[in-house]
Amino acid sequence: MKLVHSAVALSVLSLALLPTGASAQVPAEPTFADDIAPIFYDSCVTCHRPGEIAPMSLISYQDARPWARSIKNKVETRAMPPWHLDREIGVQAFLNDPSLSDDQIATITKWVDNGAPQGNPANTPTPPEFAPADAWQIGEPDLVVQFPAYTVPAAGPDIFGDLYTDFGLTEDRYITAIQTKPVGDKARQVVHHALSYAVEEDESGDRMGGGTFLVEYASGKQAEVYPAGSGLKLPADSEARLSYHLHSIGEPTDAVVELGIKFLPVGTEPEHIRYSKQLGGSHGNTIGVLDLPAGEISRSDGYARFNKAARITMFQPHMHMLGTYQCIEFIYPTQPVQAETVNCASFDYNWHMNYNYTDQETPLIPAGTILHVSSWLDNSAANRANKDPKNWVGAGQRTIDEMAFAWIGWYDLEDDEYEAAVAERQEARERTENDN
Ligand code: HEC
Repeated sequence: MKLVHSAVALSVLSLALLPTGASAQVPAEPTFADDIAPIFYDSCVTCHRPGEIAPMSLISYQDARPWARSIKNKVETRAMPPWHLDREIGVQAFLNDPSLSDDQIATITKWVDNGAPQGNPANTPTPPEFAPADAWQIGEPDLVVQFPAYTVPAAGPDIFGDLYTDFGLTEDRYITAIQTKPVGDKARQVVHHALSYAVEEDESGDRMGGGTFLVEYASGKQAEVYPAGSGLKLPADSEARLSYHLHSIGEPTDAVVELGIKFLPVGTEPEHIRYSKQLGGSHGNTIGVLDLPAGEISRSDGYARFNKAARITMFQPHMHMLGTYQCIEFIYPTQPVQAETVNCASFDYNWHMNYNYTDQETPLIPAGTILHVSSWLDNSAANRANKDPKNWVGAGQRTIDEMAFAWIGWYDLEDDEYEAAVAERQEARERTENDN
């Protein structure tokens, strides 16, 4: 049957494209100047440079040398650069995968084992230039909205909450690119993390829930540009909500955050409307019901049905402090039922990682597919993020409550578009097989 076939095609294709690891390019005597600096400049210094989030700079030999042992450990365990996707399961082709190759890891390991030599300083490449921290990465926005300032005290616990402002739109528009930007160096330091939403009002003027998710801000990740031909709807008269996580930096600081947005021209609709929703919470809704006894690891399962065929563009696990691991599975509308685990990822609340599929490997699902999200939450003392292993925890909005759902980015396909996309993928797969 056709649908069964398409599900199988998906998994086989992802295997066919896995790197073969055939080209061993590990220098015999790696040096910082010739071999290590190029890796750090590509994969580390976006965060490991002065004024950024990481604890030390890795730009110069003098900066990096004292960290050699720790660097070996972090790259061998793949803790750095941060990427928490389970590499043993499912699709592995992502637009934003920062992982080092096995050869790069072997090069760093050998360098450290050889005493981390500098080599000839003259061979060190020029460090990359970074756009000023407050540049718009998306180009000049069509609309900039600023949230009211929140004054973060000099010291105190982390602060969580919401700020609102108006978008001031009188008609629906479609977003093609969006960026969150704390204004100024100081604001950048206090804003740990922020999510933006578009909130609509009901007839009586009350806010309708938490709104539609727009974009996430976390250091290292600020801008989002949607795939060509797709756009996210920003409804007329909606309000912007900023859900923030701020922390103190030793002096009172105004956290001022702006959203910059680029739109399709007025009156234009995109070919595909891109959705991003919180799916697969337990009992079918976002927050759901969680029952997490003290000292135990629990699993939460949630489901969502896709009534139309779809191209899945993004997966992002969402839990709070107790979350440790999440998988997404598709249950296809076939007889007999076929299911496929598409991805699993470890979870760490300090890192909000999202996984954007490459165009060639975006999962394609037929109408009627069910998404199954399984989330593991560890309320035992073994979980180092667990501040209170003696207490029961349930579902809720506060950071000390839990959540367990996945953000899924997708756009709908008509059945014939779906069939065409599956056929195209099948052909690509046959071409790859013939080349091998
Ligand atoms: C997205 C930002 C980011 C990238 C990219 C990144 N790091 Fe980090 N790194 C951090 C942050 C933040 C910390 C401290 C918190 C933590 O460990 O999670 C850290 C911690 C470390 C540590 C531990 C420091 C200590 O205190 O012992 C090492 C070593 C390290 N990184 C090496 C690297 C290397 C090598 C690369 C590139 C191959 C890299 N990192 C890429 C953000 C990053």
